[in-house]
Amino acid sequence: QRPLVIAPSILAADFARFGEEVRAIDAGGADWVHVDVMDGHFVPNISFGPQVVRAIRPHTKKLLDVHLMIAPADPYLAEFAAAGADIITVHAEAGPHLHRSLQAIRALGKKAGVSLNPATPESAVEYVLDLVDLVLVMSVNPGFGGQAFIPSALDKVARIKAMIGDRPIDLEVDGGVTADNAGALAKAGANALVAGSAVFKGGESAYAGNIAAIRSAA
Ligand code: DX5
Ligand code: ZN
Repeated sequence: QRPLVIAPSILAADFARFGEEVRAIDAGGADWVHVDVMDGHFVPNISFGPQVVRAIRPHTKKLLDVHLMIAPADPYLAEFAAAGADIITVHAEAGPHLHRSLQAIRALGKKAGVSLNPATPESAVEYVLDLVDLVLVMSVNPGFGGQAFIPSALDKVARIKAMIGDRPIDLEVDGGVTADNAGALAKAGANALVAGSAVFKGGESAYAGNIAAIRSAA
């Protein structure tokens, strides 16, 4: 079993105070910092790009887990790597050459991740499992924080867990994760849990408790 990872999504942070927000979740016990990049094309929302990754990089030593909801992704991979991303995750649906994108991320010396939208079957990752360090199962339709968890993600996590076997791959879930479903997700085989609203609710003094609640439920 891989170590449990809680990865707060800074999509739910105060964008005017990213540095302080990243330091606060770091101090509050975050294992990784999840960074949601949206292009208004692959998903119906725009968040931020590599300059923001570069700006937050000095504020934490934790891994920056960069989730690219952009298409195409390939023209921007080098820029995100140079900005300080540690893990770069692309969507299987973002282009016809997933295998090439994953090779490109590894060639940049970064950990490579592949993400699946709720409607995409687990078979989409079958032929890239030897090229990835992380599989990210979306449990909401990507684009916005604060949406309700889609329960069919649990079954998909369990199936992908079985496909992964003993490969050294983190299995991450993103969208609507709370202390209420963290236990079921961990039981299904997820070891990395992304949470936006469930971590950032209640203001800075609540972050450590919010992270601890998810961790102890998992
Ligand atoms: C959705 C993003 C998620 C989102 C999670 O497109 O990829 O990371 O910010 O937010 P919550 O935890 O609020 O669903
Ligand atoms: Zn995300």
